[in-house]
Amino acid sequence: MSAYPKAVATGWFPVASIGQLGPRPIARKLMDTPIVVFRSANGPAVLIDRCPHRNMALSRGAVRDGDIECPYHGWRFNGDGHCTLTPGVCEPARHSAQTLPTLVRAGLVWTTLTKSPNTEPFLPHPVDADGFDTFLWPVNPSRARLIDAVENLLDPAHPHFLHAGIVRARNVRKPVDVTVRVRPTFAEAIYVENSRASALMPRILEGLRTASIGRFYPPSTGQVAFEGKDGLKLAITVFFMPETETVVRPFAHFATPKGVVPPLVKEALLRAFHVPVLAQDQSALRKQTDDIEAFGAPKYALGPLDFLFPAIKALAAGETPEPSDRTATVHL
Ligand code: FES
Ligand SMILES: [Fe+2]
Repeated sequence: MSAYPKAVATGWFPVASIGQLGPRPIARKLMDTPIVVFRSANGPAVLIDRCPHRNMALSRGAVRDGDIECPYHGWRFNGDGHCTLTPGVCEPARHSAQTLPTLVRAGLVWTTLTKSPNTEPFLPHPVDADGFDTFLWPVNPSRARLIDAVENLLDPAHPHFLHAGIVRARNVRKPVDVTVRVRPTFAEAIYVENSRASALMPRILEGLRTASIGRFYPPSTGQVAFEGKDGLKLAITVFFMPETETVVRPFAHFATPKGVVPPLVKEALLRAFHVPVLAQDQSALRKQTDDIEAFGAPKYALGPLDFLFPAIKALAAGETPEPSDRTATVHL
C-alpha cells in the first residue's frame, strides 16, 4: 500500500519550472520514484529515470537533438520513451523507457504517477487569471512531511514566534474573526483583520489589510491570499511536490494585481521579504521532522487554532468532506 494519502498518490505535481529546464536533464524524485525531466523535440518530457538496458539513470546522460542519451552504452530515447538510436546497429532496440503523463501549465512541468489520469492539474485563482503580475519561485527542497509543510504555510499561530517582527509582532495581538469553510474540493480559513499589519514588511507591502485567507486544495496546494478594500492584493500559491515521505519540494507562485509598481520591483521586494521567512520555516520543519523521527512517527494534538488541519487531512486522503461553516474569534 502506498505510504501517501490517496489524493496525493494519484495527484498531479509540478516537477520543474520551464525556466529550470535547460540543456541538461533534471533528476527528480516523486514519491520515492526517480524521474527525469528533459526538453524533448516535442516539448518537456518526463520519464522514469531508468534506462531499460542496464538501468543506468538516464539523468546521468545528456540531451542530444531532443532525445535523452544514456551515458553507459549510448542508447537514445525520445520524449515518448521510444529508443531512437542503439549505437553499433542500424535498427534501434525495441525497448522503451517508461514515460509519465506530462503537461505544461502556469510555467511548470507537471506529471503524475497515475498511468492514465482522467484529471488535469488544478490551478486555483488567480494562477491562471489575467490582470496580475506573477512570478514563479521554485524553492529548494525542505526536509518535511508533506502535510507539515502545507500546514506550515497556512498556520496562523506560528508567525508570532517563528517570524517575530517580520510577519507578526510577538507581543501585539488583536481580535480577529475567523470563518472556516470546508467544501468537498477545498477548505479555507478567512481571517477578517481590518487593520494595518503589526509587523514591518506587510505594513510596507500592503497598507490596510481587510482579510487574510488560507486555502487548501488537494492533493497538496496551499494558498495564502491578502485582501484590501479594493480586493485581492497578493496571492501566494504553493504547489508542494512530495519527493519522499520526509522531503518536499515547493513551487511558489506569486500574483499581485497589475498597478503602478513595476513587476520586477514587486518581485524583488517580495523575494527580499520571503527569503528570511522561508529560511525560518525550513529550519523549523527540518527540526520538527528530526524530532518526530526520534519517536518514529508523528502523534499530533489538534489545537484550537488548527483550523484547517482536519480538512487538509481529509481532502489529501481523497475524501469529499460535507460542506461546513464555522466561526470563531481568536487573537492574532
Ligand atoms: S544502460 Fe543505458 S544504454 Fe546500456
Ligand atoms: Fe512560517
